[in-house]
Amino acid sequence: MLALILVEFAYPLTGNLAHELIGIGMLILFLVHGGLNWQWFQTLHKGRYNGLRRARVSVNALLLAAALLLILSGLLNSHLLSSLAGFEFHALSRELHTAAAYWFLILMAVHLGLHWKTVLAEARNLLGCARSSRLRRFALRAFSAAIAIAGIHASFERGVLSKLTAYYSFDYWDFDGSVAGFFIQYLSIVGLYACLAYYALQWHTSRKRSPGRLRSGLLSAIGAFRKR
Ligand code: HEM
Repeated sequence: MLALILVEFAYPLTGNLAHELIGIGMLILFLVHGGLNWQWFQTLHKGRYNGLRRARVSVNALLLAAALLLILSGLLNSHLLSSLAGFEFHALSRELHTAAAYWFLILMAVHLGLHWKTVLAEARNLLGCARSSRLRRFALRAFSAAIAIAGIHASFERGVLSKLTAYYSFDYWDFDGSVAGFFIQYLSIVGLYACLAYYALQWHTSRKRSPGRLRSGLLSAIGAFRKR
């Protein structure tokens, strides 16, 4: 699913027809994904809402809104539907479609980061790996840091902020030069926001487990600073 979403960003590479057909295919995949997680929707009105649950539900609601806007604005801009209908219509601007696409990308990355533990556990099961070792944890952290740095660089290169604010929707990439570079940039953007969400969640959980630790750590740091 992630691979297809990234392919959707390579509009000049795929061309319009493939873009629109894959986009409609994505609608089916979204519905399947929703269907597979139907239990989550059914338990929405049950149980208590703490900060974390509120954050997760808000991200999912925003992601759903971005996905709906993305598909709707795509259909209303569609060249394929225009030619089938026999007249030109561009009911919604390209800026709106692009902004929805970038909001969708970032929210999907945050969604992924918030569920990263489940993704890792399933990957471990699939690969038959044992529990994580110290070395593997260190390698994973170093890899995350490298992805985050690449993601910051790529966010500026691709003008993510101007796309999110619908300030500027055009993008240029020389696909004759490199195709892999394009996908690496978008993958690192997804990696950056997934890492931010994952580590924010880790920090939140560890703070909840030992609420005094951060405060005492800060106080001893201030104390040590004063003594100098
Ligand atoms: C996951 C779904 C989708 C994503 C992530 C996505 C993303 C994008 C992006 C980023 C662009 C701008 C390309 C560029 O500047 O190089 C674009 C353009 C476009 N998209 Fe999509 N899109 C999706 C689904 C759709 C669907 C379902 C349709 C229509 C059926 C559609 C129709 C179009 C059209 C017509 C353009 C070009 C607009 C123009 O230049 O007039 N897209 N899309």
